[in-house]
Amino acid sequence: MRVAIIGGTGFVGSYLVDELIARGHKPVVLVRPGSESKVSQARHCELVPGDVSDEAAIRRCLRGAEAAIYNIGILREMPAQGVTFKALQEDAAVRVIDLAKAENVRRFILMSANGVRADGTPYQRTKAAAEAHLRQSGLDWTIFRPSLVFGDPRGRLEFCTQMRDDVIDKPLPVPLFHEGASPRGAGTFEMAPVHVRDVASAFVAALGEPATVGQTYVLCGPESLPWKEILARIAQACGKRKLMLPAPAAPVRLLGSLLDRFAWFPLTRDQLNMLLEGNTGDSSAVFKLLSIEPRRFSQEQLAYLQSDPAGRG
Ligand SMILES: NC(=O)c1ccc[n+]([C@@H]2O[C@H](COP(=O)([O-])OP(=O)(O)OC[C@H]3O[C@@H](n4cnc5c(N)ncnc54)[C@H](OP(=O)(O)O)[C@@H]3O)[C@@H](O)[C@H]2O)c1
Repeated sequence: MRVAIIGGTGFVGSYLVDELIARGHKPVVLVRPGSESKVSQARHCELVPGDVSDEAAIRRCLRGAEAAIYNIGILREMPAQGVTFKALQEDAAVRVIDLAKAENVRRFILMSANGVRADGTPYQRTKAAAEAHLRQSGLDWTIFRPSLVFGDPRGRLEFCTQMRDDVIDKPLPVPLFHEGASPRGAGTFEMAPVHVRDVASAFVAALGEPATVGQTYVLCGPESLPWKEILARIAQACGKRKLMLPAPAAPVRLLGSLLDRFAWFPLTRDQLNMLLEGNTGDSSAVFKLLSIEPRRFSQEQLAYLQSDPAGRG
């Protein structure tokens, strides 16, 4: 199947492309200027140069495709460069959905995120708006909402590698965030990290499974783990033992609201809010439907964290 992929050059996108190729599909990847070298197995893909604001380029990418995947998302806004949640996660998604309809691409899979809702953070609100637009589009749609996605970043940004570089490798205690003044419950909010290969398998398997049409699925890993256990497992995978101390969220949130725009500040206010909300769910039914045995957040699966720092992206 010829599959147009918008957002195929990042961490999850590179695995989507690999899985499409492994399952005999032809990825047609929209590639913005400067990202050409990021395309995985480019010789097996068709590349369409252009930005997601360029209607003609999107049409070229969609034309003749049997399915489309919209996978663009950001964690940090850079409004001066036009990089906002609204522009990339809502307006551009709506544009691609409408153009898919115009180009007769009936099957559409949208990358969303666990916890999105109309009254959430700007990240969540804009993804919720894209979901709502797709649901009323008349297309054969499927929406996937992953929890934290982990796996070898292959030189890109990934949650565990970022924790390693920004927290575990630093000569400071690991912060266990908590709301309010009391440290009771610090670091107990839960996450269910899902492996990037299982996310990619779910997207590609859904293309061939009619029962997934018109469905929204949470994609969570098989274990829900408290934040402190997640950090302990990351530290163990890096061969380190770390002191963990309670840290009130309020000052970090305040700093985040001042420094969100700077890439060197490790955590945005939105990211902190979404962390503290927790991020869990039961995906056993969809993984069973798609014949996927989801990987655990285990030392074996985290072995990529031991990679030579020189090879870090
Ligand atoms: N990683 C997670 O834990 C996680 C969890 C839940 C949901 N998600 C969702 O999964 C999707 C992929 O995430 P990821 O972690 O793979 O992110 P990523 O590595 O940053 O990849 C983002 C993709 O979006 C494209 N993109 C970013 N900014 C753009 C811009 N200004 N104009 C055009 N394209 C742009 C990137 O293209 P370039 O390569 O050209 O920059 C890349 O293809 C996102 O929708 C994200 O919200 C991720």
